[in-house]
Amino acid sequence: MSKIIFVGGKGGVGKTTCASSLAWKYSKKYKVLLVSTDPAHSTRDLFDIPFKKDEDFYVYSENLDILEIDGEKESNIYISKIKKQCCEMLSPVILCEVEKQLDTASISPGAYESAIFEKMSRLILKNTEYDYIIFDTAPTGHTLRLITFPTSMNTWMESLIKKRKKILMLKNMKFNKKNKFSHDSVLNILESRHSWISDISKVLMDPARVSFNFVMNAEKLSFLETKRAVKTLDEYGINIDKIIINRVLPDSSDPFWQGRKDKEKVFIDLISEEFREKNLTPIPYFLEENTGILETIGNLLKQQRDVASN
Ligand SMILES: Nc1ncnc2c1ncn2[C@@H]1O[C@H](COP(=O)(O)OP(=O)(O)OP(=O)(O)O)[C@@H](O)[C@H]1O
Ligand SMILES: [Mg+2]
Repeated sequence: MSKIIFVGGKGGVGKTTCASSLAWKYSKKYKVLLVSTDPAHSTRDLFDIPFKKDEDFYVYSENLDILEIDGEKESNIYISKIKKQCCEMLSPVILCEVEKQLDTASISPGAYESAIFEKMSRLILKNTEYDYIIFDTAPTGHTLRLITFPTSMNTWMESLIKKRKKILMLKNMKFNKKNKFSHDSVLNILESRHSWISDISKVLMDPARVSFNFVMNAEKLSFLETKRAVKTLDEYGINIDKIIINRVLPDSSDPFWQGRKDKEKVFIDLISEEFREKNLTPIPYFLEENTGILETIGNLLKQQRDVASN
């Protein structure tokens, strides 16, 4: 099964750059899929791949593919799947009303996130040809919701299953029937969904398969946001592999830049203290662009640890 690496962090800190650098580096030896879950994709831009209408999948090289998840497309697939299930269970009169409700739901922000989660989960659970699947994610809040989704979904699913069983029990009592839970299509769907969400939850908490890399800059807001996010992932038992301190300034003879460097040092000290038990990886501020920067950062990140050799 593929190893999964999530790259997350505050907006603009260098997530896409670091995720792409890792993907680039790993693709020298392994088969890699780089996935962007950020609605504002820029992964393809970093590799200078021209946009193709209605395309979300790009082959960059023999070992590196790029997928920019199209939330709208996935949302439509997701809603069609639910409609199909409703068709099998509901009478035509009710179905018409339910379809109207589903069409409204399909344009809600929640549906978009659920659809991205569906796609992400399918990639993680499916036995793909990739040694590594690297997720370049949207800024922290969005990504944390995505990753902690199974836990909240599971609780909700369990309460729905309980309610459905209660209804079935009352129905059985009324018609004096024996336990016929297994023939109820609604319950079957809920239970299979529950088991699927439990599977994804287990994988996300498996450090042998999944790791999370936080990218941050040595400044106040990035530090505070990362501190909160790391605490959340620790609470959910999700393995944090690296905390990347990106764009570390070089020493300078210019008083302005040296002033900034001194301020940065204060935060580097705070970060080193706060995350002393984590694997901290500083990345310098580079002048190169695109593939130059990918190669250099990829080398620095890979030097630390080769997850595939675990
Ligand atoms: N180590 C670095 N040295 C120099 N420039 C960098 C470095 N890392 C990232 N950059 C530049 O910083 C900018 C933001 O980087 P990037 O797009 O990777 O951030 P992001 O966290 O993915 O942003 P968003 O939250 O918008 O998705 C880009 O112009 C990128 O080239
Ligand atoms: Mg990005």
